[in-house]
Amino acid sequence: MSDNNEFKAWRVHERDGQYQGAEEVLRLSDLPDGEVLIKVRYSSLNYKDALSAAGNKGVTRQYPHTPGIDAAGEVVASTAGTPAVGDSVIVTGYDLGMNTAGGFGQFIRVPASWCVPMPAGWDGRTAMIYGTAGLTAGLCVQKLLAMGAKPEQGKVAVTGASGAVGSVAVELLARLGFDVVAISGKADHADSLKALGAAEVVGREALTADKKPLLKPQFANAVDTVGGSPLAELLKQIRPGGSVACCGLVAGPQLETTVLPFILRGVNLLGVDSVEIPLTDKQAVWSRFAADWACPKTEQAARDIGRGQLGGALQAFLKGESAGKIVLDHNL
Ligand SMILES: NC(=O)c1ccc[n+]([C@@H]2O[C@H](COP(=O)([O-])OP(=O)(O)OC[C@H]3O[C@@H](n4cnc5c(N)ncnc54)[C@H](OP(=O)(O)O)[C@@H]3O)[C@@H](O)[C@H]2O)c1
Repeated sequence: MSDNNEFKAWRVHERDGQYQGAEEVLRLSDLPDGEVLIKVRYSSLNYKDALSAAGNKGVTRQYPHTPGIDAAGEVVASTAGTPAVGDSVIVTGYDLGMNTAGGFGQFIRVPASWCVPMPAGWDGRTAMIYGTAGLTAGLCVQKLLAMGAKPEQGKVAVTGASGAVGSVAVELLARLGFDVVAISGKADHADSLKALGAAEVVGREALTADKKPLLKPQFANAVDTVGGSPLAELLKQIRPGGSVACCGLVAGPQLETTVLPFILRGVNLLGVDSVEIPLTDKQAVWSRFAADWACPKTEQAARDIGRGQLGGALQAFLKGESAGKIVLDHNL
C-alpha cells in the first residue's frame, strides 16, 4: 500500500459481453465495508475463480470485480476484538471473491467472522497451497471417515484426481493408509499421481456412461470432484454400505441416476460444502492439515505465480487442463 492508500489487484471487467482481467491500481476506499482489513500475502487458484473471471453470473453478479476465494495475510486494521492488528489469518469461502473483492488483490476487507487464525507453526503460503481446494478435500475425507470408511474395506476412488481438490484427496487418503485409485483424464500425470500415493491410475473411461443401473462393485468408497455422468457411473460401482463424498461439478451439475445403488446396496451420497460451513468446522480441518494431515508431496509440488500469470492459469482450469496446486504470491 502506498502513502495514498493505493494497492494492486487483478480485476475483471465486462466489456460488450467479454470478460477480461488485468492488474490495476485501486484504493482502499474501493473495498467494501468490513471489520477487518487484511494485507494479503498469498491466494490460491480454484475452479470457482476461473468461473468468476469468465463472467459466470452464478458466481459473480457484478463487474468490475476482483476474484480470489482464498486469502492469507496479516490484519492491518480491525474494529473487532478478534482478530487483532498483526494477527495472521486465513479467509476462504463465504462471499470472498464472489461478490466481495477477493484475494487476487493485495488487500481485502471482510467480516471478523470469516477469519480463521493461522494454525501454530504454519505460514500463509503453506495455507494457500491447500486453499479452498485442500480444505474441500479434507472435508470429503472427514465425511468418509465419519461414515466409518477404513482402509481394509477396499479401494477408494478419487475422480478429477489431477485437479486441485483431487490431488490433495489422493495424497491425504494414501497417507491415511487407503488404497487409492486415481481416476484421471491426463495420462501424462499418471506418474505424478502415483508419486502422491495413488496405488492405481485409471482413465476417465472407467466411468463411461453405461445403460445398466448397477455394475460390478469396484470401490469401497470414493471422493468425487467432477459430478455429472461420471458420478452417476461411480455410484453404480460402489460396494454395499460404501460412501461417495461429492463436492464438484466440472463434468456437469446434473445427476441422472436410479435409486438402486442406494436401496439395493445401501450406498451413501455425502454432500460436501466448504464455503458456508461454520468457521469452527473450517478451523478444525486447517488444524489437521497443519498437524497429522500434512501432505508434504502436495506442498513440494505446488507452483507459485504472480498476478501477471493469472489469466493463463485460470484459462487452464476452464479447459480441464489445470493440475496440482497453484499459489498466487503477491510479492512476485
Ligand atoms: N463443494 C465445495 O465447497 C467445493 C470447493 C472447492 C471446489 N469445488 C468444486 O470441485 C470441483 C473441482 O475443483 P478443482 O479446484 O479441483 O478444479 P480443477 O483443478 O480444475 O480439477 C478438476 C479436475 O476434474 C477433471 N475434469 C475436468 N473436466 C472434466 C470433465 N469434463 N469430465 C471429467 N473430469 C473432468 C480434471 O482432472 P483429470 O484430468 O485428472 O481427470 C480436472 O483437473 C469444481 O467443480 C469446483 O467447483 C467445490
